[in-house]
Amino acid sequence: MDNKTFFEMAVRAAEKSYSPYSKFRVGAALLTEDGQVFTGCNIENASYSLTICAERTAVFKAVSSGFTNFRAIAIAGSGDGDFSAPCPPCGACLQVLSEFCGDDFMIVLSDGVHKLSDFLPVRFNKENL
Ligand code: THU
Repeated sequence: MDNKTFFEMAVRAAEKSYSPYSKFRVGAALLTEDGQVFTGCNIENASYSLTICAERTAVFKAVSSGFTNFRAIAIAGSGDGDFSAPCPPCGACLQVLSEFCGDDFMIVLSDGVHKLSDFLPVRFNKENL
């Protein structure tokens, strides 16, 4: 799958966003090693801190479906329907991704492809325990 198609899957996922408070829609598409895609959107809550990001929705859907090996994630975010500005993952999502993904895991944003290690070069993970 090309990166444009992959990114478009994240944009489509953002259409499902439940974000009445921030009005910022985020969508994620997570590609497993065996080629399946799990999508997710941000889901907000009246008790604001219980909001979950699109990326973690996608990861938790995949893991709870039995998938823990991932190749890449595409992320799209927008407050006005224009998804052309890059929407990088927040620190909490990077930490959750790093539970399952190595340095070379790809993060596809509107501005191109990045590596997990570009965004979180030093990570706390199971090797530290
Ligand atoms: N959000 C995500 O879904 N992913 C991120 O990585 C950063 C932020 C969501 C959370 C909240 O619903 C909205 O964007 C504004 O912060």
